[in-house]
Amino acid sequence: MRVFITGGAGYVGSHCAKLLRSKGHELLIYDNLSNGHVQAVPPDELVIADLGDVGQLRTVISDFKPHAVMHFAASAVVSQSVCQPLNYYRNNVINTITMLETMQQLGIQKLVFSSSCAVYGRPPATPIREDMPCKPLSPYGQTKLIMEQVLADCRTAWNLGYAALRYFNASGAADDGSLGEDHHPETHLIPLVLQAALGRSKQLKIFGTDYDTPDGTCIRDYIHVQDLAEAHLLALETIDTGDRMIYNLGTGTGHSVQEVIQAARKVTGKQIPAIIAPARPGDCAILYADATKIKKDLGWEPKIDQIETIVASAWKWHQKNPHGYADQ
Ligand code: UFG
Repeated sequence: MRVFITGGAGYVGSHCAKLLRSKGHELLIYDNLSNGHVQAVPPDELVIADLGDVGQLRTVISDFKPHAVMHFAASAVVSQSVCQPLNYYRNNVINTITMLETMQQLGIQKLVFSSSCAVYGRPPATPIREDMPCKPLSPYGQTKLIMEQVLADCRTAWNLGYAALRYFNASGAADDGSLGEDHHPETHLIPLVLQAALGRSKQLKIFGTDYDTPDGTCIRDYIHVQDLAEAHLLALETIDTGDRMIYNLGTGTGHSVQEVIQAARKVTGKQIPAIIAPARPGDCAILYADATKIKKDLGWEPKIDQIETIVASAWKWHQKNPHGYADQ
């Protein structure tokens, strides 16, 4: 298939592009490099441009004539979305609608969309199923939920076929060491733990130890980025026009912040200083997925479900690239 990938130079997008490329799909990556890295994709696949540039988007897509679109491009820092809601609505909603209009005009009817467990907000129970109520706590989660609704309406109106994949905590790095996680600013737990292990920061801050969990720290579902990529590939190869696929992507197991730090101490052999800091506003105590729907429908099964293996894969990347892609 010819696949047009927005945000394909970013963390999850680049790992998905790598897998699709290895399966023989022909790719065109459209990325403004606000979160992406030029080193993460082959230069001949990359168009550096913004989704807000309607004219360029239309020209590039109509020249490439893709069979399907994978849409990763988004702003994705929850706390930032609270301070800058309009940037989030513009980038994640308005720019995605621009892309959908272009797809409709050019007759492209298959889309794999990056959604998030942030759509659920504070779930009534765990593990979280796709049919549980969606009540986002942040503008970021709201933008993803709005787009899921827009996709449903496009399906009704022009038979768009789509998969909305609700990621839990994307983590880890490519097993050949070629790709990894490099955000500016970095807000995610595993890279921050490993930066502390490398001595790039003095210590890790543990955001809250009074949660109603066994060790008092938040529990999350860390899903390896290569497993996410496998789910995207399956969705892409299964999806047909008019399809509506909504899936959680998680391992189904939660790990606390303390467990992640312990795993990192074991993997790295470093002490990793950590201090207790106030809880981060809006963090839920426990979030982990019930991912049985995608297992049943598409046969997807995460291959990496041990937190130590996930941390070790990220550690390999961070050791080789202590300053991220800047080291390449
Ligand atoms: N944490 C710390 N210290 C840090 C960083 C994080 O204690 O320095 C804790 C957080 O409080 C949280 C856990 O580690 O309990 C994981 O935090 P991340 O920032 O790595 O990830 P989140 O669970 O906050 O965010 C993820 C996705 C978002 C998504 C969100 C939905 O990265 O895209 O889940 O809740 F929106």
